[in-house]
Amino acid sequence: MTKANNLKKTYRSLPLGWYYEENQFKKEIKNTWSRDWIYVGHENSIKEKLEYITINIFKYNILILRDKFSKVRAYFNTCSHRGSIIADNSKGKFKSNVLICPYHQWSYDPSDGSLLGTTSKTNKDFNKKNCSLTKIQLKIWNGLIFINLGVKTSFSIKKVFQYYDKSLSKIDLSKFKIGRTWKKKVNCNWKIYWENFSECLHCPNIHPELSKLVPLYQRRIVDIKDVENWKILKKKKDPKFSGGLREGAETWSFNGSAQGHYIENLKKEIQTKGQIYISTWPSMFLGVYGDHIRIVRILPISNEEIELSAEWLFEEKTLKDPKYDMNNVSDFGILVMQQDSDISELNQKGVYNLSNKKGTLMPEEYIIKDFHDWLRRKLRTN
Ligand code: FES
Ligand SMILES: [Fe+2]
Repeated sequence: MTKANNLKKTYRSLPLGWYYEENQFKKEIKNTWSRDWIYVGHENSIKEKLEYITINIFKYNILILRDKFSKVRAYFNTCSHRGSIIADNSKGKFKSNVLICPYHQWSYDPSDGSLLGTTSKTNKDFNKKNCSLTKIQLKIWNGLIFINLGVKTSFSIKKVFQYYDKSLSKIDLSKFKIGRTWKKKVNCNWKIYWENFSECLHCPNIHPELSKLVPLYQRRIVDIKDVENWKILKKKKDPKFSGGLREGAETWSFNGSAQGHYIENLKKEIQTKGQIYISTWPSMFLGVYGDHIRIVRILPISNEEIELSAEWLFEEKTLKDPKYDMNNVSDFGILVMQQDSDISELNQKGVYNLSNKKGTLMPEEYIIKDFHDWLRRKLRTN
């Protein structure tokens, strides 16, 4: 019998208190969110000089900008005078090449965060050099911007991505253009959204449309290798067993059509698998489908809230085609994320249980087990 991707015994899930207790959340912010590489956005989200975006990881507000040399920089969005926020919008463009605090107008150089001037008198012992903005580590990998709030940390595919499909190296993500973005606040702990992403036991009843498109999901599994006899089943012509999309479908969209815009370099892989995923805990997963890429970012607002956002990337020629209907794919993605958000909120509502029980993991939930093990390891490091 062929081995399957399954848990061979019944493991306990995390204590329910971990999904709402303030202390636990603070530990996770300290040991994962403040130390791991966190996805910010595609570099085309700040295309022009002096354009910026801000993101929140818990209450930490971070400013990511393109300076006058077009280099991307990241700082804590905190003035060195008395701590005011400097850029108060989620995105925008600075009017001049000087960052000015809205409170008492201290000014900073966007290229290195150094303090340029104050509006007050200064004593002899005042040293501007001690009042720069706090820099944050930044890495642009394949056109994707990542930051790290911790001390000097290297960036490697092996370390950053828990799941990495090597076929992704056949395309250059930096060449793709953003066609649409979407954002939503979801009332659930960040781990609940990840657990939902990591299994398909919920697929037939929560995602009827998606389960029609990806027939494998009707069997409540994420991979053809999730059952023991997969080698035999794979030979069946039916995508419910062999994987991939339903007969005639080319991409994740309402009608399954890629409208003549297949991502050619990955055509073969996508035809076999239906989709290609990479993911990095705790903040992002990326899916490549027939004609587009969808990047989903998860950021914690509090122990019971996340900001969920998505970017749809396309090849330039696809976006330029006036006949191409982008909503065919993006609205489909939103439908699936909305269904996952609703059920994640329902999951969150139920975790308040004074017995502080632990849940139970079933054989198909092996990715959730990996996620829990990863988190436990992170929490042990300090
Ligand atoms: S807090 Fe920014 S100038 Fe005073
Ligand atoms: Fe789902």
